[in-house]
Amino acid sequence: MIKIFDDYDLSGRNTMAMAVKCKRFIEYDQKEDIPQVFKDLGQREPWLHIGGGSNLLFTCDYEGTVLHSRIPGIEVIEDTPETVTLRIGAGETLDEVIEWACEQGWGGLENLSLIPGEMGAAAVQNVGAYGTEAKDVIVHVQAYDTHERTFVTIPVADCGYGYRQSRFKHDKGRFIIHDVDIRLSKNFTPNLKYPGLRDLHSATCPMDIRNAVIALRDSKLPRPEQVPSAGSFFMNPQITPEQFAQLQANYPAIPHYPTANGLMKVPAAWLIDQCRLKGVEVGGAKVWSKQPLVITNPDRRATPDDILALEKKIVEAVKARFNITLHPEVEHV
Ligand code: EPU
Repeated sequence: MIKIFDDYDLSGRNTMAMAVKCKRFIEYDQKEDIPQVFKDLGQREPWLHIGGGSNLLFTCDYEGTVLHSRIPGIEVIEDTPETVTLRIGAGETLDEVIEWACEQGWGGLENLSLIPGEMGAAAVQNVGAYGTEAKDVIVHVQAYDTHERTFVTIPVADCGYGYRQSRFKHDKGRFIIHDVDIRLSKNFTPNLKYPGLRDLHSATCPMDIRNAVIALRDSKLPRPEQVPSAGSFFMNPQITPEQFAQLQANYPAIPHYPTANGLMKVPAAWLIDQCRLKGVEVGGAKVWSKQPLVITNPDRRATPDDILALEKKIVEAVKARFNITLHPEVEHV
């Protein structure tokens, strides 16, 4: 079913709690609705498809149509002695899927526990935490191709996945994801790559890891339903080995992680922390004290301009001190 709302208040649709509106809001709950939605949208009107709104910053009212999928469903599409493959509706809440998978004892998603948002958006964004990324479990993305006006199955190898990157982000608006196929393991092997999880060798099931991840996240990150935020506001910068060598000469303690593409990843949280910006406020916007990569709206009174001004302050401080330009992870609309 397709539901259409005019002059729609988006404050409950973005975890940053920005009080903005859109001209039209369209919600649908089955893949068969998608061609109809696009037929009705017409050619000229701007549109934006959202998920749980947990990685978005609305900078002003949206003069177009915001689309949202409520497509439900968790279906087993393949079952072998070692693995199970699930087809998950784009509108399913990621963490509910993770909790359910852990209850079955199926491994692969547990390190992503408590990441806010919905399944479709997780596949767009290639969400990641604690040593796992969505691409590690995705096998196919099922989508509607708005150019060819047909349904397509995209194998994970063709999704262009990288660190918070995908083909769906680059070729924006082309594919509308309606289901995501993921493969989970029945033979539990914990992923303990992340330093804070290394001591968990006694974990016997995915639920043990899920519980540890939840405790770790709660010690650092605000839950968006309690303190509005959009999670990490910036991506961790990846710099050249030469740039890194210079930086390390001045700051021997700088944490760093080599990446597969020969670059060095340095934590934006550390750079911001060194600039002494924890807890800094602009209007109603505040840098989270326990994890300065997160910009929060603690009293729900921050305007988009407050957030943008605080973002600018952070970017300028890090640039001045380290000559590194931070780029937002949060999508600005
Ligand atoms: N750090 C500080 N001061 C702080 C906090 C952190 O110096 O107050 C330094 C520490 O050296 C720490 C390093 O920053 O070791 C990294 O911090 P953390 O492990 O918390 O992870 P992160 O790199 O800041 C990324 C993701 C998070 C994800 C965590 C855990 C990005 C942009 N963010 O943060 O994802 O939960 O790793 O895997 O990659 C999100 O995307 O919304 C998100 C929360």
